[in-house]
Amino acid sequence: MKTLKRIAAGILSTALLLGMTSCATKQTEASADANVDSAAAFTTVESGKLIMATNAFFPPYEYYEGDKIVGIDVEIATAVADKLGLELVIEDVEFDSIIAGVQSGKYDIGCAGMTVTEDRLKSVNFSTPYATGIQSIIVAADSEITDIDTLVNGDYKVGVQSGTTGDIYMSAPVEEGGVGEERIERFAKGNDAVIALTTGKISAVVIDNEPAKAFVAANSGLKILETPYTVEDYAMAINKDNVALKDAINQALKELTDNGTIAAIVNKYIPAEG
Ligand code: ARG
Repeated sequence: MKTLKRIAAGILSTALLLGMTSCATKQTEASADANVDSAAAFTTVESGKLIMATNAFFPPYEYYEGDKIVGIDVEIATAVADKLGLELVIEDVEFDSIIAGVQSGKYDIGCAGMTVTEDRLKSVNFSTPYATGIQSIIVAADSEITDIDTLVNGDYKVGVQSGTTGDIYMSAPVEEGGVGEERIERFAKGNDAVIALTTGKISAVVIDNEPAKAFVAANSGLKILETPYTVEDYAMAINKDNVALKDAINQALKELTDNGTIAAIVNKYIPAEG
């Protein structure tokens, strides 16, 4: 439990630092047709488009409604693209291929409820955080697992979405608060892990709290444990060489935060608990 908190604290402080630095960034050159005040000129992978990579099985951030991808990330990215005078194009890919794709210049942004981590910051830049998430533990309703310590110290198998922070925490050795490689089952999608849990192949799933709530609501016989408060920041991943795009996105996010658009989008999908 201690380790989980420690890792989360590391993630949070990095994100705060990042937010602070980006606020201090000064923009000079104005971009041609953009609706953003004083953003520097930027380039995108395809002119006129903002290509967003996501993994669309992560409600309420991104999920399919029929054949359309909707959710918090989609609406925020659309609002940002509008501000920049760009058309948003969404690519639904494996979560663990997003960072590499942004890094190699295939996508402009990775926007996937993606947590800012020190490790990821070695490969990409992150925008100012626009949301927060918490890691949750899902178990069977009648499970004997009561908390993270029972989970870690027992012999239970844990399912995670490959390459996510849940994967990173849980695949760490027991001494570091995880369950170790031998007890990890990796899945391409969060809901595949949940299906394995419903059939008893694994004993728990560690995943972000909002998708956890959606998966528990959609499958009977599951519950979410009270877990340590591991707050993470969600931000957009951007190629390290494209600092002008990061600055323009941060300016757009600032305007959308200041005018209440971001809060309205989040509230639409996650009604404040009263
Ligand atoms: N927040 C976690 C991470 O960054 C999980 C994100 C998974 N996102 C998704 N769209 N499937 O690792």
